[in-house]
Amino acid sequence: MNYLITGGYGFVGSYLANKLINEKSNRVYVIDNLSNKNQNFVSKKVKKIYGNVSDFTFLEKIVTKKKIDYIYHLSATINESVFKEDVYNDIFTSIISTVNFLEIIKKHKIKKFIFISSIAVYGKAKKEKFDENSVTKPEFSYGISKKCAEDYVEYYSKKFKLNCSVIRVGNIYGPFQPKIGEVGVINIFIKNALKNKLIKIFGKGNQSRDFIFIDDVVNFLIKCKSIKSNIYNLVSGNSIKIISLAKLIKKITKTQSNIKFFKERLEEVGNFRASSTLAKKNKLKISFNIEKGIKKTVQFYEKNKQFL
Ligand SMILES: NC(=O)c1ccc[n+]([C@@H]2O[C@H](COP(=O)([O-])OP(=O)(O)OC[C@H]3O[C@@H](n4cnc5c(N)ncnc54)[C@H](O)[C@@H]3O)[C@@H](O)[C@H]2O)c1
Repeated sequence: MNYLITGGYGFVGSYLANKLINEKSNRVYVIDNLSNKNQNFVSKKVKKIYGNVSDFTFLEKIVTKKKIDYIYHLSATINESVFKEDVYNDIFTSIISTVNFLEIIKKHKIKKFIFISSIAVYGKAKKEKFDENSVTKPEFSYGISKKCAEDYVEYYSKKFKLNCSVIRVGNIYGPFQPKIGEVGVINIFIKNALKNKLIKIFGKGNQSRDFIFIDDVVNFLIKCKSIKSNIYNLVSGNSIKIISLAKLIKKITKTQSNIKFFKERLEEVGNFRASSTLAKKNKLKISFNIEKGIKKTVQFYEKNKQFL
């Protein structure tokens, strides 16, 4: 099978590409414009193509020439903070690119298009645990453009009978996660703990988040090829308070680091809880609880200090 992964030099894209290329009969192509200048760890066997997903002609050429069967659309701009939002970039990287692909696969049928969205589409936390039927009310540009792209996926899928799925992923963590501003809190805490540096918490640390380990994410994304076209939440289903997370990381790393509290940030969304019931009915298996996932991440950085 021939796979195309956009944003394939990024955190999730690299894991996905490396896993798919393990199967001998697969050919894997990644597209990336290297806007996120992180150290990439994509296997040499993966074919890397430099380019921008907002360029229709470029994408159409790749999809047709490489005879792509499956597309995983992952490219995105992870904004460092609300104050550094690049709205136009979000529009091009999430919305225009998605419409590009939908127009292409309308013309040149492929087996499946999988759009990676985010739980950011739900907006501020409410009392309820968000499932796929919950009201979506994104707060910031990143979530707004993800939601708009999702709507186009749904629209095209129905109108032109395309095989597409939307995956709303929770906060992902694991070895190699790049630091983008304060995004990627688990990796930031672990790296600081292993260097005996301060662990910074914005607010009182009572806000909770759903964290899902990278291996669980990638395993489900691969299963997505053969499940019913739909919108799926991809979360662990178990939220944890940031203060509990910091304490757990302190315990696991046996660090000398202290925890210090700073002013709450504007982008805080409260006590976020979501469920993956639909994905669980469709082959999702959560193999890593938070403690197991953190231990695996810590062990990686202890053995590979150059990535600290
Ligand atoms: N990491 C998380 O916690 C998380 C949570 C929910 C959803 N997601 C989604 O998962 C996907 C992957 O996230 P990630 O953590 O791997 O991010 P990442 O920043 O590590 O990777 C994104 C990649 O997209 C590339 N890119 C950006 N704009 C591009 C463009 N116009 N053309 C081509 N390439 C472009 C970047 O260079 C980068 O390599 C994203 O869609 C993100 O929104 C991530």
